[in-house]
Amino acid sequence: MADLGTKIGIVDFENPIFVASGTYGYGTEVSELADINDLGAIVTKSITRYPREGNPPPRIVETPSGMLNSIGLANIGVEAYIETMIPLYEELKTPIIMNIAGSTEAEYCEILEMTESASSNIAGYEINISCPNVKAGGMEFGVDCDLTEQLTSRLRKLTERLLIMKLSPNVTDIAAIGIAAERGGADALSAINTLVGMSIDTTNKESNIHFGFGGLSGPAIKPVGLACVHKVYQAVDIPLIGIGGITCANDVLEYVLAGAAAVQVGTANYRDPDVGNSIIIELDTLLDKNNMGSILNLIGKVQLGS
Ligand SMILES: Cc1cc2nc3c(=O)[nH]c(=O)nc-3n(C[C@H](O)[C@H](O)[C@H](O)COP(=O)(O)O)c2cc1C
Repeated sequence: MADLGTKIGIVDFENPIFVASGTYGYGTEVSELADINDLGAIVTKSITRYPREGNPPPRIVETPSGMLNSIGLANIGVEAYIETMIPLYEELKTPIIMNIAGSTEAEYCEILEMTESASSNIAGYEINISCPNVKAGGMEFGVDCDLTEQLTSRLRKLTERLLIMKLSPNVTDIAAIGIAAERGGADALSAINTLVGMSIDTTNKESNIHFGFGGLSGPAIKPVGLACVHKVYQAVDIPLIGIGGITCANDVLEYVLAGAAAVQVGTANYRDPDVGNSIIIELDTLLDKNNMGSILNLIGKVQLGS
């Protein structure tokens, strides 16, 4: 058996296969469709200060090798989350990472503080500063180095749990944003969130997404995700979590070689909610077959031409 164990900040994970925010609900619902106990970690959908209905439909459309979504952070809000979801995590062996989204710095801090004082058993927080699907939201932070550093350092003061900042590919220089988050005290960075995209029905000239723009995800974005991870890997010293278009163990290995210590599987869960478990088994075989040993030894080992 290969050694699939990995470490992000102070937390050890049994394997590097996490499921991505927005594609696995609040963490426990999917247990009716898949075994969630062996996943490396589950990242919840973004939780906001107040409940949100999200954007009007149509808000999902299939595109070549991917999909566009404009869900708009539909969720039950932090109060209901603390009351109804966090208690369910007591039964769960899989670490839960709570994803948080806010429209102001104060709002992000309030959500995190409320959760901390509920003495929850979550492993850490992933901070969504990269959602392209809301009018006033995290994206404002994710494109600005100063705002990213300031928000990260305020959140850092509020928790000792794992603090992960989630980066957007919709920026000029993703490495600069990563450096800012590292300077602010983040334990790790995850990359990437979706890319801004559009899809049009030519028969009636209508947009296939209600508000016009959506976030592109799925295999179509894997090369972009890999490039972003490698750029950030070259610029920071904290661990990275690779996201974007992962459907199989070979994709995971590519992300690890590019610099990721773990990965998140997103859109692929819509085709098969159990895909994470299949990838864990496949990854074990792939590493063994190639005598690759452990995940930790492979991080960032891509060879580039001179
Ligand atoms: C339907 C849908 C909803 C999403 N919702 C969120 C969300 O609430 N918060 C967040 O940080 N990312 C969200 N994402 C982005 C994913 O977590 C992930 O970063 C992105 O989809 C790229 O990974 P993938 O290609 O494996 O899907 C969502 C993605 C999809 C497809």
